Amino acid sequence: MPSRGAFLLVLSTIVGDTTLVASSTDVNSDGGAYQNILGSTLRSCSYDGTALTGYTRTGYCVDQDDDAGSHHICINLSSIASSGQNFCSVTGQSDWCSSTDMPCHEDPNDSTCAIENWCVCQWAFASYIEKAGGCDAIQEIQCDAINMKALEAYKSNTNKYGKALECLYKRCDLDMSSYSYALSSSMSSAANTVRNGSTATDTSSTRRIMIGIGVALAAVVGGLAYITIAKKRRGRANMMGEDDGSTGWKRDDMTTETSL
Ligand SMILES: *[C@@H]1O[C@H](CO)[C@@H](O)[C@H](O)[C@H]1NC(C)=O
Ligand SMILES: *[C@@H]1O[C@H](CO)[C@@H](O)[C@H](O)[C@H]1NC(C)=O
Ligand SMILES: *[C@@H]1O[C@H](CO)[C@@H](O)[C@H](O)[C@H]1NC(C)=O
Repeated sequence: MPSRGAFLLVLSTIVGDTTLVASSTDVNSDGGAYQNILGSTLRSCSYDGTALTGYTRTGYCVDQDDDAGSHHICINLSSIASSGQNFCSVTGQSDWCSSTDMPCHEDPNDSTCAIENWCVCQWAFASYIEKAGGCDAIQEIQCDAINMKALEAYKSNTNKYGKALECLYKRCDLDMSSYSYALSSSMSSAANTVRNGSTATDTSSTRRIMIGIGVALAAVVGGLAYITIAKKRRGRANMMGEDDGSTGWKRDDMTTETSL
């Protein structure tokens, strides 16, 4: 991600010449050919009366080859996480989130607008969720303005971005059956890890993934793990002792085991 200085330089350069913006972006800059995570046409993230957003400053969270930060997530920066901190302070950036002198959506020549809905970097969004204290701790996200590319990026590395993926599914009411499908490969690898004897961390991330999936799938995997753990229970007393309490389903297994 570019430094703030570079970011502002790029910003002022682009905003200073809207003709350049139009010619330097492709015909999709109006969002027309982009899909949002709901599977429909990408909507504009910013709107009249608020600061103009988007990597190419078109208002849309477009996908751009040279945008390593991939500013695909539309989030309302004028509301704050439940911690009382805004996106900038939670992610340790200088407080550009509170800027009120930004070029306006309806007229980029008019730099009097406050940032409201903003296309943020998908990687920063993932760490924002963690640092803010989880999906429930973050403010509104604008689902119809979030680029499908973000979902694809998270799906390609569910070990690292499973939580962010889960959060988008949850907050945007996405079809959970496609969620379990998206995670099925990572689920089976997580299940294998458990089967082969895992660390508490591995189990805990499996747990997190499971939260987002339907009860049926959870039951199947839980059953598998139960059988495995039950099989190995004699040799595994020490490992159980490392359970930090965050790995609820292992605990449940232990409880069940005790009651047998
Ligand atoms: C963003 O959040 C602010 C503060 O909660 C609210 O007033 C505003 O209506 C929100 N904007 C959108 C587009 O939801
Ligand atoms: C912004 O200013 C430039 C140059 O002054 C002008 O050509 C352009 O039409 C203006 N844009 C808007 C949206 O008013
Ligand atoms: C666990 O074991 C299975 C076969 O029993 C194997 O396919 C898989 O790769 C192993 N997973 C790890 C993480 O070692």
